[in-house]
Amino acid sequence: MKHIVVLISGNGSNLQAIIDACQQQRINGTISAVFSNKAGAYGLERASEANIPAHALSPADYDGREAFDRELMRQIDAYAPDLVVLAGYMRILSPAFVAHYTGRLINIHPSLLPKYPGLYTHRQVLENGDEEHGTSVHFVTDELDGGPVILQASVPVFDGDDEEIITARVQHQEHAIYPLVVSWFVDGRLEMRANQAWLDGKALPARGYAAD
Ligand code: GAR
Repeated sequence: MKHIVVLISGNGSNLQAIIDACQQQRINGTISAVFSNKAGAYGLERASEANIPAHALSPADYDGREAFDRELMRQIDAYAPDLVVLAGYMRILSPAFVAHYTGRLINIHPSLLPKYPGLYTHRQVLENGDEEHGTSVHFVTDELDGGPVILQASVPVFDGDDEEIITARVQHQEHAIYPLVVSWFVDGRLEMRANQAWLDGKALPARGYAAD
């Protein structure tokens, strides 16, 4: 059984989708622990509810990003994870953290990367009048939201949409694609080689599996 550690900062709806997929054996793995950089994150309750060890580490207790990440790594490594999943983890990672988990560290970002890395993606889509929006699962590298894309899902943007509506539409897709990508990884079908995502021995195109 493969071991998964999930990092969150907030609501944890993507965490919930992965918990559900593990319970329903759509993922052949187990979530060993959940970590948050925010003590009040609702996702910690979701973890506890599912009998998953849930930990909060406060950045204020550490002397800078490197020290915080060092302690986070130490605690994560106690669970010997095969895969570390960022699920709404809203904190920049130190290069040492990324290097330590490279190839077994994935993230979900609410845009059709390479469009809109960083924050406020839904707002930018609306302000720019885009007709299409979406979400991307990617391997994490040192470039913020810049690692190789594994899978994207797109959604339409309709006249009159606001941020709340569009966030919900994107998240609905996230809850479908993130567990799927996790399942590929734990089944040994997915890997990162030379800064590219590979599925079933084939290099994926720049915008991930579905884009080809
Ligand atoms: C998700 O929509 C995810 O794409 C986004 O945060 C949300 C977390 O929701 N992640 C980022 O913006 C990372 N840059 P959740 O806590 O309900 O899973």
